Amino acid sequence: MKVYNFAAGPATLPATVIRQIQNELPSVAGSGMSILEISHRSELFDNIINDAKQDLVDLMNIPDNYHVLFFQGGGTGQFAAAPMNLATKYHKIALLDSGHWANRAGDEAENLGFDVDVIASGKNDKYEKLPHLSQQLPANIYDYLHITTNNTIEGTTYHQIKTQGTTPIVGDMSSNFLAEKYNVNDFGLIFAGAQKNLGPAGVTVAIVRDDLVHHVDHIPSILDYDLFIKKNSMFNTPPVFAIYAAGLVLKWLKDQGGIEGIQAVNEKKAALLYDFLDQSKMFTNYVNKPDSSLTNVPFKTNDPDLDKKAIQEAKDAGLMNLKGHRSVGGLRASLYNAMPIEGVHALVDFLHKFEKENQEVLGNVQR
Ligand SMILES: Cc1ncc(COP(=O)(O)O)c(C=O)c1O
Repeated sequence: MKVYNFAAGPATLPATVIRQIQNELPSVAGSGMSILEISHRSELFDNIINDAKQDLVDLMNIPDNYHVLFFQGGGTGQFAAAPMNLATKYHKIALLDSGHWANRAGDEAENLGFDVDVIASGKNDKYEKLPHLSQQLPANIYDYLHITTNNTIEGTTYHQIKTQGTTPIVGDMSSNFLAEKYNVNDFGLIFAGAQKNLGPAGVTVAIVRDDLVHHVDHIPSILDYDLFIKKNSMFNTPPVFAIYAAGLVLKWLKDQGGIEGIQAVNEKKAALLYDFLDQSKMFTNYVNKPDSSLTNVPFKTNDPDLDKKAIQEAKDAGLMNLKGHRSVGGLRASLYNAMPIEGVHALVDFLHKFEKENQEVLGNVQR
């Protein structure tokens, strides 16, 4: 049975990359050594990490005044790293409260002693609609504005970024990194855990503008941007395998026509599913249309038992990990870069069939 993995992360990887890893596992780059056993202080790994950096620069058009860094600690590590490194002047952060992960970022910053102002919130709209600033942020108050570009759980995306004068924007791009085009210049810092669009879990990318980085006293070395710039992300042992695998995914992405190429495919994939949901009498996607995510599509019936049945039967049909996040329930299909369009066709076919077979239940469901 063909299996498609709709998990929100760690998530599906390109089949060709998995095969390449399998082939190269005993001997990376003809070295006679596995990537699992080589030193990060080797010339071999220097080439791997530098290639990955350059490929990211090429794919995202990253200007010269930005640094590309590889950390451990995930997006959650960056919730701490961002304020510790960047909120050094006002110790105050503005936050767009667009859902769960924005809140987690705000909580972490507050926990570390920074002031966090929620400038706009989607809470009253149940996070089904994105909050926006009604006017530009005043200058010289906030060290930065935190935005979650894609809300993994709620299925909403800031497709456009409104720059804020001199206040830098920090973008948590964890769940739509490399899936749609953004202008790096609009951000002071972009960060993303790899495990959705870039590779296996274990490495986190941070792309930071040079003028925002300074030496800061009393912060943990493993989250110190200034130190990681000086040490080419190798102050300590980096996640060697995860960086290698991410490097392969970046080369694969170049072969797909880069971000523009993959975005066009992502738009097709998402349209297939949204079009089905729009006409379905059983399943609905409840997100404000212009805010709809390309990468995470939540949907549900109005009956949690029917949702459960759909998730189970989908699993039996090889469509894995469609359970929505516990905070919103229902189903969620994550359609990251590596999900082939055939997977979305298979999902839509399944949902059609499920809806037909469960007509009698539908009669009892209030919409
Ligand atoms: C938007 C967003 N930010 C941050 C995180 C946390 O990332 P991590 O698990 O890598 O710490 C996630 C995880 O799913 C996420 O979706």
